[in-house]
Amino acid sequence: MTTHKESLLILDFGSQYTQLIARRIREEGVYCEIHPFNMPLEAIRAFQPKGIILSGGPSSIYAENAPMISREVIELGPPVLGICYGLQLIATLMGGKVARAAEREYGRAQLELAQADSPLWRDVPVSSVVWMSHGDRLESLPEEFEIIGRTDNSPYAAICKQEQRLFGIQFHPEVVHTEAGRQILRNFVFDICDCEGGWTMENFCEQTVREVRERVGSGKVLLGLSGGVDSSVLALLLHRALGDRLKCLFVDNGLLRLGESDEVFHTFHDRFHLNFERYDASERFLSRLAGVDDPEQKRRIIGDEFVKVFFSCAGEFDFLAQGTLYPDVIESVSTKGPSDTIKTHHNRVPEILELDRQGKVIEPLKELFKDEVRRLGAQLGLPESIIRRHPFPGPGLAVRILGDVTRERLDTLRKADAIFISELRTSGCYDQVWQAFAVLLPVRSVGVMGDERTYGNVITLRAVSSLDGMTADWAELPHNLLGRVASRIVNEVPGVGRVCYDVTSKPPATIEWE
Ligand code: XMP
Repeated sequence: MTTHKESLLILDFGSQYTQLIARRIREEGVYCEIHPFNMPLEAIRAFQPKGIILSGGPSSIYAENAPMISREVIELGPPVLGICYGLQLIATLMGGKVARAAEREYGRAQLELAQADSPLWRDVPVSSVVWMSHGDRLESLPEEFEIIGRTDNSPYAAICKQEQRLFGIQFHPEVVHTEAGRQILRNFVFDICDCEGGWTMENFCEQTVREVRERVGSGKVLLGLSGGVDSSVLALLLHRALGDRLKCLFVDNGLLRLGESDEVFHTFHDRFHLNFERYDASERFLSRLAGVDDPEQKRRIIGDEFVKVFFSCAGEFDFLAQGTLYPDVIESVSTKGPSDTIKTHHNRVPEILELDRQGKVIEPLKELFKDEVRRLGAQLGLPESIIRRHPFPGPGLAVRILGDVTRERLDTLRKADAIFISELRTSGCYDQVWQAFAVLLPVRSVGVMGDERTYGNVITLRAVSSLDGMTADWAELPHNLLGRVASRIVNEVPGVGRVCYDVTSKPPATIEWE
């Protein structure tokens, strides 16, 4: 496990904003980790946090199964900041009273400081907008606590017990709508917890290179390089640590976008001089997919074939590297209590699980959020075009062709998609959307070209805005851009007679069409 010179601990009570708290703290250059609220006291001690943050959560503190911690956690020694539910928890454990608020408070509120000289308020205006999201509120203060801030609906919007360095705030400092949120977190982290900062991607890179060298020794590492952001960053990081003892294997499954296979080859083989092998398995994939139109079956075939091809080309290796990120390993807290804690780990392939059991899987990015991986990529000299790349599903274009996947359909979709993406780039819209792509609907629609009636396929364009792919909204692209893309596709791509734009959000739709 990586050692950090200082870390903050965030105990998660199930708030949708918990990861955001962690990202904000890290943006200040201080490493922090999220753990479930029921982390054992011994484990908390061993973690040696410089400070503890109690997140918000959807529960009512007085509900029967409300997530609880023992008072010992709060009195362990490091400063504590309770946010929303966290404030109510501190107050309840220390003898205060929480009740349902007469008026639920969601959205903006005006925070008035009551004790402007509190260390939590350094450089915070006496009156500023904060973001609230709660139905309960503190009704009476625990002994020896004082009020340091109020809003109209929350007379105890911020409280503290200064000599024990316990702080509680009812509002959310981690969201951008809280005007002084960043400053408040900064005050807690640096002034109250006495952190020094300095956790940067440069330091992360150096430290990880050292640790990888130690762990791998003189061994060889294998990495499946797809050309996506995570595996690309990982490839450069491991290359820096191990040179040619890192072997990158790129499987061309025949379901990639126009020119993609050559681009990846050019970048990593020609430009970065990685020990890079490309394996063209398109024939194998496409012949197994012939005649299959059920999306789940397509996914199964592609996943299964990938594992076969990958391990048959692997050669000898001592470790397998995986681009697992922090959101994949955070144990998320469900509101029903510890027994419902879910652990999501994306790789359930038996071959990889077995390697993991043998201690042969390394996941050097597993402490990082996506935006941090991008910053690390920049640090390692990865081109912007890869750093800013939209996500692309593992099963590739197979899930963007409804029905049977044929070479002809792949060819049509590739051309249409390339036109859409190049126009998005030219117009400057590419970086403003989470993901954009074309989908081929193999239905015939009628058209007219010259004097002839035509029956062409339909291409649907999809562009969405999103933060994490979990929810998404359709992107309001300029009409003239959409018009230009449609006209180019119908004119330049044989077999396409009509272009539509998808204006459904997720939910109820998904981002991909299959
Ligand atoms: P959906 O379509 O579920 O997609 O809204 C959410 C995000 O996940 C990507 N996606 C996949 N990625 N294998 C992958 O590796 C898949 O089978 C798959 N299906 C969807 C999708 O592109 C979006 O970013």
